[in-house]
Amino acid sequence: LKVKWHSYKYLPYEKELASREMDALFGDSAFLGNDGDYVLSVQPDSKAVDRLTYFSQVAGKSGVIETIQSRLENASNGQNRRQSTRYSVHGLHEYKGKFNPQIAKAILNIFCVSEEDFVLDPFCGSGTTLIEAAQLGCRTFGTDINPLAVYIAEAKLLALRTPAKRLAAILLEISARRPNDIEMTGFDGSKREIYLALWFEEHFLSEIEGVFYAINACAGKARSFFLCVASDLLREYSNQEPADLRIRRRKTALPDKSFWLAFVQACEAAIAKLDVAQKHVGTGLPPSNVALGDVRCPDWPGAGILFDAAITSPPYAMALPYIDTQRLSLVWLGLVEPNGLHALEAELIGSRELRGASRRSMSNTMSTNEAGLPEAEAHLCVRLQSALEPEDGFRRRAVPALLYRYFQGMRDAFVNVRNVMRPDGRFALIVGQNRTTIGGSDYQIDTPTHLANIAGSVGWRVAELMPLQTYRRYGLHASNAITSETLLILQK
Ligand SMILES: C[S@@+](CC[C@H](N)C(=O)[O-])C[C@H]1O[C@@H](n2cnc3c(N)ncnc32)[C@H](O)[C@@H]1O
Repeated sequence: LKVKWHSYKYLPYEKELASREMDALFGDSAFLGNDGDYVLSVQPDSKAVDRLTYFSQVAGKSGVIETIQSRLENASNGQNRRQSTRYSVHGLHEYKGKFNPQIAKAILNIFCVSEEDFVLDPFCGSGTTLIEAAQLGCRTFGTDINPLAVYIAEAKLLALRTPAKRLAAILLEISARRPNDIEMTGFDGSKREIYLALWFEEHFLSEIEGVFYAINACAGKARSFFLCVASDLLREYSNQEPADLRIRRRKTALPDKSFWLAFVQACEAAIAKLDVAQKHVGTGLPPSNVALGDVRCPDWPGAGILFDAAITSPPYAMALPYIDTQRLSLVWLGLVEPNGLHALEAELIGSRELRGASRRSMSNTMSTNEAGLPEAEAHLCVRLQSALEPEDGFRRRAVPALLYRYFQGMRDAFVNVRNVMRPDGRFALIVGQNRTTIGGSDYQIDTPTHLANIAGSVGWRVAELMPLQTYRRYGLHASNAITSETLLILQK
């Protein structure tokens, strides 16, 4: 029996993960043939074939079995031979820092996670790990401090359980209430609408609000699915430059298509992908939960639960402002008041917001290492501080204290996640490198090694640091993509 690769071009780390997942699923009965395909020496368990990530078919004399992964990706990709990262419900809503679902699935396989297991993602973002784990039949739990992340992850997990036919029927009902037919009593003058009016042309906002009312009137419990699809279109229809990592006034032309039509078409495409996913994984998935919370706090939502495995992509040190670029969705969905956006941004681990008294107090904490970080990390921050030159501007001057605060936040997260892991349980993190310029010199910050050291200082055993060569995040911002990431595996 031969196990065939997908037709897309593989990155080196994908071949490595593929070989490890082969090992985990088939053990000694799998070996690499001379032609570069894997060969199975015995008839494989069909459940193991169903779990494969990086392979498209198992072919033998009695026929060919196409893997579920291949069916899901083909339904999302059409004729395109690139790897699809938006299959099943993964494409419902973009999310900055969303990671590649294939990696999450391969790690679940490498960890030999079974249907009895309970999987955690403490920084779940838009729910990539949770979806992959749920599709493999595991119970899942995710937390995130950003209400938009929680909203999207919950909507995706709920969609997986809602028959695609039902969503298609609701879409017809929504479509029957085209915004023109809806009695629009004009804008309601709320803070929400006043804020949105700053960012949309009036005719678009009127359509967008029409879609909002139609969804709320027709979609019942499935409203989050439709609101997510609409929310994902907001930036495209706004006066913000849609592809920008920061908020800038738009220079490119606004779309010609009505928002209403774009929404209906996007729903149809999402329902078609969901339909294929449900044909292969069913709708009766085990329970999953997503909770809003701060993983640094001892009483975070995961406290008191026991997990078998955790997989995450944690926040970056000094990330670009997340909340800022999501502000239209956060306000439109009613998740945050416009005047609460800034405070939310400041709460995120890795945020660049650090001003006034908090900045002075963090600088003091850093200089005395009051938080008790391991010496190497505390020393690095102090070294960066002493390298500052007068010409370094306001933002740069904050870097050492920001990095210290990031390490401290991650340390608290490592403590809390370790407390909810079963003995021997593993925690995988995909971590990127960082760079900064201080005093005219470039500093490469090896964040994966620093996080491994910090995790070790609170009792984790560092099982592995595996560089993911030429890993690129897919999406809009390819030119800013992080090309060097590391898979850090910790064990309790
Ligand atoms: C790189 S993103 C995760 C993306 C996710 N893997 C996905 O595929 O969508 C990191 C997440 O950590 C969240 N985060 C930051 N600080 C947090 C905290 N203190 N507690 C919980 N989540 C936090 C951010 O809101 C963000 O969603």
